[in-house]
Amino acid sequence: MESSPTNAAWSFGGSTMPEIVATLAERGIPTPFYLYDLDGMARAARALREAFEDPRFLVAYALKANSAGPVLRTLLAEGCGLDLVSGGELALGLAAGASPERIVFSGVAKTEPEIEAAIMAGPQGLYAIQSESVEELDRVNAIALRLGRIARVSLRVNPEVNFDELDTHANIATGHDEAKFGIPLGDVDRALTRARELTSLRVVGLATHIGSQLRDVDAYVEASRRLFALAVKARSTFPLAFVDTGGGFGIPYVAGEPCASPADFIRAVTAERKAAKLDDLVLVCEPGRCLVAPHGVLVTRVIQRKETRGKRWLMIDAGMNDLMRPALYQARHRVVPVPAKGKAASNAERARFRVVGPVCESSDDFGVHELPVDIDGTLALLDAGAYGYTMASEYNGRALPHEVFMRGGQIASIMRPRTAADWARARLTEA
Ligand code: LLP
Repeated sequence: MESSPTNAAWSFGGSTMPEIVATLAERGIPTPFYLYDLDGMARAARALREAFEDPRFLVAYALKANSAGPVLRTLLAEGCGLDLVSGGELALGLAAGASPERIVFSGVAKTEPEIEAAIMAGPQGLYAIQSESVEELDRVNAIALRLGRIARVSLRVNPEVNFDELDTHANIATGHDEAKFGIPLGDVDRALTRARELTSLRVVGLATHIGSQLRDVDAYVEASRRLFALAVKARSTFPLAFVDTGGGFGIPYVAGEPCASPADFIRAVTAERKAAKLDDLVLVCEPGRCLVAPHGVLVTRVIQRKETRGKRWLMIDAGMNDLMRPALYQARHRVVPVPAKGKAASNAERARFRVVGPVCESSDDFGVHELPVDIDGTLALLDAGAYGYTMASEYNGRALPHEVFMRGGQIASIMRPRTAADWARARLTEA
């Protein structure tokens, strides 16, 4: 699938959208469903890998973006490690075949069982537990001491980049001084001093992550520069193995919108790493969205149209429970018609429709889109491969969407959620 299709004629390695949609309908897969192109994800991972100048790097895929087994196995096969944020994601990542020594564990409030699992994974524990506070260092140390292990930790630093420079939605900006994330610059010395006293820890890296959906490299580079300056100082005391500049590489959700590529981010921080003379350290990054978002669409059907007081509404069968990003961040996903198999795309004049879902919330609204005035049938919401299914819920008693995985132009696998009837039964089942 091309990353920016403007009509539904695009294909998944030879099969067109209308053909795939027809096949899935014949197989009884109900809309809405997510449709992913595993080959596109593999290509994105390869392109990112090629942006690194030398082999000292780790692309730790942030699996919160899309945690489906076929996606994980595809990205692990392309040499990715993982960035994760919970015990559930850790269990999933290990079961999918990730090596513990290629996993970093981020998260502001890790529980005791989660820290324990991270320390006990594999012979050495994870590559690093990314500690987000001085207080957490003490907890990790106490747990490692009790388990008789040495915990590999890194400090997740909050580089306190000016909020206005982050140029992303407030809900997904993390590297500014009002955010709950990371150890503020002013506390890093205290953290390092404390870490020196804690005998069951080894500080192996410094990390940062300033936010998501960044479209230019400036703030990312500035944060990295601050991180690298700290690493230069810290390595005189701690034999650091890596610096981790985080994820956040944005994608163009709007056609033609200016957006730096993932490779642009990597080239820029590689130059910074060189300038700081930290070339011998592994450069870790934690991309989620950019590897998967453009390679997934949410396929949905028109339930009905409604015209009131000169307004055109288009009610579709996907809701905010299936794709929450518009409700939560006022995000826009392009909406394109998918013609029935064998039929030409409608060339009727276009009109402005407010596209909304069936959920009983006014925020269940995908925005105003120009669509053929006779629009009906199937539609696709584009760039839905990241933070779509992983943030979906069964709100309003709605089943989670199916997920369909394409490889080499074929349907490689289908993941089926429990039905709404199963949901209803489960709500009545008491232990
Ligand atoms: N590393 C850490 C520590 C993170 O918190 C995140 C994302 C990432 C890496 C990956 O960021 P990415 O490369 O995907 O931008 N639900 C929101 C995005 C939330 C991002 C949370 N953290 C959305 O749909 O836009």
